[in-house]
Amino acid sequence: MKILVTGGAGFIGSNLTKKLIDRGDEVVVVDNFNDYYDPKLKEDRIKIFLKGYKFKLYRGDIRDQKFLDKIFKKEKIDKIVHLAAMAGVRYALEHPNLYYEVNVLGTQNLLDLAVKYKIKNFVYASSSSVYGNNKKLPFSESDSVDNPISPYAASKKTNELQAHVYSHVYKLPTTGLRFFTVYGPWGRPDMALFLFTDAIIKGKTINVYNRGKMSRNFTYVDDITSGILTVLDKNMAYQVVNIGGDKEEKLTRFIEVIENNIGKKAMKKLLPMQPGDVPATVADIRKLRKLGWKPTTRIEKGIENFVKWYKEYYKI
Ligand SMILES: NC(=O)c1ccc[n+]([C@@H]2O[C@H](COP(=O)([O-])OP(=O)(O)OC[C@H]3O[C@@H](n4cnc5c(N)ncnc54)[C@H](O)[C@@H]3O)[C@@H](O)[C@H]2O)c1
Repeated sequence: MKILVTGGAGFIGSNLTKKLIDRGDEVVVVDNFNDYYDPKLKEDRIKIFLKGYKFKLYRGDIRDQKFLDKIFKKEKIDKIVHLAAMAGVRYALEHPNLYYEVNVLGTQNLLDLAVKYKIKNFVYASSSSVYGNNKKLPFSESDSVDNPISPYAASKKTNELQAHVYSHVYKLPTTGLRFFTVYGPWGRPDMALFLFTDAIIKGKTINVYNRGKMSRNFTYVDDITSGILTVLDKNMAYQVVNIGGDKEEKLTRFIEVIENNIGKKAMKKLLPMQPGDVPATVADIRKLRKLGWKPTTRIEKGIENFVKWYKEYYKI
């Protein structure tokens, strides 16, 4: 199969590209290498992490439909995994228009082209943030997600609505995966694991929001990519599926594991909750399990892998 991976220079996209090529698929990557975080990390994912891997790379913007159309015309793509997005929850509050343009209009472009070029399956990244401040835990796909609390979450919920329209009207198979806090090697510099590791190593104070009273279903990146393959191979009519680790972890425990791996205690600044953030995201993952997937990496191993990568990459 020839798979288009949008956001393929990103954290999840580069890990997925590797896995697809390893199993024999052809991959076409689209990414605009924007500077929301250090673009060098994106370049290095291509240059170092994916060294020796053969795939087509197109540098450009998913907001540009003509650019995308040329790729579809040339490449004869079978399926799409659409991961390109503005992904930071907090940054979205300062740049709501950008999130609307990239996440909503960019996705619209890809859905239109998926229909035009008769794509067999359209898998895209949704997010646990669509559950907003829902009180019922764990979060289940059948819960209402009508009350997002950030422009980012609203854009992801919108993607699910867009996909529904295209599945319904054009019979395009679509699956939205609601990712729960993804972490692992080559991870994003704006996310907790990276920020904490960096600060602890440099002897800087870490900001601990909601005074540490947070919990997450942290999900190791390999478990995310294996889940993407699970749904990519199934070509299901409209579906939305949670994908998260199988253990609810307290933020305090998460920090403890990082400290153990670095061999140094964190200096913590306890702060109130941030706007747009939520105290707990816990996933009900029975639906994806029924499709044959299971998470296999616990935070003890996953954080060990991350800290090892971080030290190697930054030569510490
Ligand atoms: N990492 C997580 O915990 C998490 C959780 C929930 C959802 N997601 C979603 O998963 C997807 C991948 O996230 P990630 O963590 O790998 O983030 P990432 O920022 O590392 O990857 C996204 C990639 O998309 C590219 N991109 C952004 N705007 C673009 C545009 N206009 N045109 C072309 N390329 C563009 C970026 O350059 C980047 O390489 C995103 O859709 C994100 O919203 C991630």
